[in-house]
Amino acid sequence: MFEALPVKQPDAILKLMLAFRADTRDHKMDLGVGIYKDINGATPVMQAVKSAEGKLLEEQDTKAYVGPLGSPQFNEAMIETVFGKNADKQRLRSAQSPGGSGALRIIADFINEARPDATVWVSDPTWPNHIPLLSAAGLNLENYPYYDATHCKVTIDAMLSSLQKAKPGDAVLLHGCCHNPTGADLTHDQWMQVIQLLKDKDLMPFVDIAYQGFGDGLEEDAWAIREMAKQLPEMMVAASCSKNLGLYRERAGAALLMGRNDTEATTALSNLQTVIRANYSMPPDHGAHVVEMVLADDEFNANWREELESMRVRMIQLRSSFADAMRKRTNSDKFDFLIEQKGMFSRLPLNGEQIEALRENNAIYIVGDGRINVAGLPDDQAAMDTLTDAIAAVL
Ligand SMILES: Cc1ncc(COP(=O)(O)O)c(C=O)c1O
Repeated sequence: MFEALPVKQPDAILKLMLAFRADTRDHKMDLGVGIYKDINGATPVMQAVKSAEGKLLEEQDTKAYVGPLGSPQFNEAMIETVFGKNADKQRLRSAQSPGGSGALRIIADFINEARPDATVWVSDPTWPNHIPLLSAAGLNLENYPYYDATHCKVTIDAMLSSLQKAKPGDAVLLHGCCHNPTGADLTHDQWMQVIQLLKDKDLMPFVDIAYQGFGDGLEEDAWAIREMAKQLPEMMVAASCSKNLGLYRERAGAALLMGRNDTEATTALSNLQTVIRANYSMPPDHGAHVVEMVLADDEFNANWREELESMRVRMIQLRSSFADAMRKRTNSDKFDFLIEQKGMFSRLPLNGEQIEALRENNAIYIVGDGRINVAGLPDDQAAMDTLTDAIAAVL
């Protein structure tokens, strides 16, 4: 069987990660991979997570199966985190999942069973893994234009007019906050226009929220989801705990469903459970168990919120100091868009050749579409100067 297989290449981001690891230059700078980094360039375990893990190790007395939907307490806590304390819980259900990717995949399988002729509309550009992940579930995908790379802003009119072509029952994949890869989020007014269109055209919102707490704050970043929950009859959300709890490798997330009423929400969840059982049977426990403990314990919860907030503020400061430095270097406001954008990513207006030159000549690693990880920007002025000099040189 294996002899006929073609060799498959890792995707562009994984490839860049490998090239960075293999680079022996001391001054190499990784702006590629999508993980948060602190001032030392490390991705430490968050303090609240460490404390909860210690307690879990002491208290846990079984490793028996938890069931396809995972822990009911975790699911309840995720509904509150994403939809807020005042959410209409009668209409909401959650299934613990292996990371945000696991949630995306089971929702994709769920759509494929519930409405096999539905098209899923995906922003152009989007997180590159959305495409293979949703396609692997057998879904038809279409792009809607999202970003004007010349002016570094959302193309709301083009987005709305493209979505006018969707047919009733189609799903629209939306980034709940901190759009990856652009960092360009919809304003509240623009969200209102999108929600109105979803309502008018009977389209299903499928929201991916992987960076809650990285943009304007933990509650603020869920604003669009909560507004949709107020105005629309149904929705689906894939939430990740990888970034905001730093649990990347533990694979914790949730697939959330909002139905028209209690009965329909229960039926929808029973279908999701069947998809899960046929897929990976049951989600991993450790990461989600830790999330559940962090969210339930007042002290852990307060520590976590504080640390998350300091990460968010640090990224805002890095955006600002990078934009300042680029303003001085280029004598223009061409990079000021970085200050407006949100979360861990933005795309620099650089072409493939310029990105290649930065890697070859300066050991600066940027994804091929210009995406940078803002948390990878240097804190110290000398390194920031080196970076901005290098970018100015290739421009
Ligand atoms: C937009 C987006 N969605 C989903 C994910 C998946 O996250 P996880 O690692 O929890 O599967 C990522 C991870 O980079 C992401 O950027």
